[in-house]
Amino acid sequence: MLSIKDLKVSYGESEVIGGLNLELEQGEILAVMGRNGMGKTTLFKSIIGVLGCGPKSSIKIDDVEVAHEPSYKRVRAGLAYVPQGRMIYPTMTVTDNIRVGLETAKSKDIPDYIYELFPVLHEMGKRKGGNLSGGQQQQLAIARALVTEPKVLLLDEPTEGIQPSIIKEMARTLKTIRDMHNISIIVAEQVLSFTLDSCDRFLVMEGGSIVHSSPRADVDAEKIKKFLSV
Ligand SMILES: Nc1ncnc2c1ncn2[C@@H]1O[C@H](COP(=O)(O)OP(=O)(O)O)[C@@H](O)[C@H]1O
Ligand SMILES: [Mg+2]
Repeated sequence: MLSIKDLKVSYGESEVIGGLNLELEQGEILAVMGRNGMGKTTLFKSIIGVLGCGPKSSIKIDDVEVAHEPSYKRVRAGLAYVPQGRMIYPTMTVTDNIRVGLETAKSKDIPDYIYELFPVLHEMGKRKGGNLSGGQQQQLAIARALVTEPKVLLLDEPTEGIQPSIIKEMARTLKTIRDMHNISIIVAEQVLSFTLDSCDRFLVMEGGSIVHSSPRADVDAEKIKKFLSV
């Protein structure tokens, strides 16, 4: 569903990702774990096209090459991205925030499944996005991404700044989204309990490279914890 080959990403002269390969199956939820500064956000920004990549790098969504396409074409090809910090529009209503994801869609109606997944967004439709709690804002950001009907959803540290009880619920929600739409999801995370609850496969990044990989069945939680501790 997503195939990345020889991905190279730099900030000016400094190369942060130096030739990364990654394959994602349809319906798979993949965890990309790693401490701060290890390259998770850089990876996501290059997949969605906020950052450019090397001339020989390849990013394919369902066999469509998008590595050198602008972001809007990547969205059209089936990518959606929930950035770290959520980045909802605080002064816009909840409903209008979701409609941002429908900008290029034929219908501006928010599909029912969004409110089935996130009833609170229906109840709070007329409120300003900025007045929602952290967990509600995360739901809003996911809703905005989902209405583009992606094949691949990227979530950058969705549990950041969210209460433990809500984190449990969010793990269930991710699996529900996958089951409902059979889409693929990549979650960048530092919270291992969350990824253990929600993910099918685990990667660990260090210094812009993948240094560890394991399927859910073989996961060595202690080993991953060591990578995550300073
Ligand atoms: N805008 C930027 N300019 C220069 N270096 C950056 C920029 N953003 C991130 N970096 C560097 O890239 C590396 C990876 O950062 P990032 O992708 O944000 O990691 P993570 O998301 O895993 O915390 C870090 O060394 C960070 O300092
Ligand atoms: Mg980050």
